[in-house]
Amino acid sequence: MREASAASRLISWYDDHARVLPWRIPPDRSRAGERPDPYHIWLSEVMLQQTTVAAVTPYFLTFTRTWPTVQALAGAADADVMAAWAGLGYYARARNLLKCARQVRDQHGGRFPTSEVELLTLPGIGPYTAAAIAAIASGARTVVVDGNVERVMLRLHNCADPLPGSKPKVRSWADAITPDQRAGDYAQAVMDLGATICTPRAPACGICPWLDDCASRKAGTAASLPRKTPKEAKPQRYGIAYLARRADGALLLETRPEKGLLGGMLGLPGGPWTETTATERPPVLARWWAASVEVRHTFTHFHLVLGVRVADVPMGTIPDVGVFHAAQDVSAENLPTVMGKALRAGLHALEARTEQQNPAPDRPVPSRARPARRTATR
Ligand code: ADE
Repeated sequence: MREASAASRLISWYDDHARVLPWRIPPDRSRAGERPDPYHIWLSEVMLQQTTVAAVTPYFLTFTRTWPTVQALAGAADADVMAAWAGLGYYARARNLLKCARQVRDQHGGRFPTSEVELLTLPGIGPYTAAAIAAIASGARTVVVDGNVERVMLRLHNCADPLPGSKPKVRSWADAITPDQRAGDYAQAVMDLGATICTPRAPACGICPWLDDCASRKAGTAASLPRKTPKEAKPQRYGIAYLARRADGALLLETRPEKGLLGGMLGLPGGPWTETTATERPPVLARWWAASVEVRHTFTHFHLVLGVRVADVPMGTIPDVGVFHAAQDVSAENLPTVMGKALRAGLHALEARTEQQNPAPDRPVPSRARPARRTATR
């Protein structure tokens, strides 16, 4: 394979087929030398770590509307940024996002750096993100390797060595094929190729710009690559989340400790998540009821089964942890996904209990009529 001609075939394909993305400068303007705002590229790259373009797009638009510059983001309240991030997952990214914005404001005069070396000194920016921002925002010839690039390179070279052991090979192939010109567009072209044609399952080899370059296409092995060394099975953990509802409808939430999973995010109070049975640790003395459904959620390193307990508590209740929030300020969308699931399950259980204690009349009651007396005949 001639690397230079393969790279230019891919860039020509990108010129015609680039995805339209809100952080991206389209290829015709990029060819003319226009560059995107590095703040936008950084924000999109951090959001896109472990997350799909479809999931990221609305968050990217909200963030850039709310905080149009890195200085604006640096000046935001932590709680506002964490709430805006709710639902995207991997919350350490949001904490690092703020740290990084403040470092850019304090140490770089508010101008987002675009050199790979400087980018690597910033919180939350690792080798992939630094290379991607430098290439896309300044056109530098960096070697950008993410999961898409790994899959595409291993297929292009028909390499059955399993990941992650094959990463050094992937890097040297990626380095060899990266062009000097339009390196940012080349990087985005491989990402688009991986997302739309050279997909993990059922790659669309028939319409691939690298059809004639690809060794696994010739061997008929593309769909079976990349191989991966099996990961250890994820352990199961158990916990309990508590939903206390005060007489005025306010709900008890706590801000989780900065360090640790979901750090700094709002959630339902609860005990530790352990690999044996769940520990009861109610946040307030009350008559707790078990919700009939459990919440299940999978994190990077474990599966969680969360029991949900609910209680109605009187006005004046002083909880051991957490703060009561007015009901209209609490929504599942503003909580981390697992906590949103627990909130929904808890609210459902509270409603079911209220319904059980104050059953609705059997038939709709005309508004001016007296309520029908309930009989015990059925
Ligand atoms: N995935 C990660 N970064 C991306 C980008 N800049 N464009 C499209 N998909 C991506």
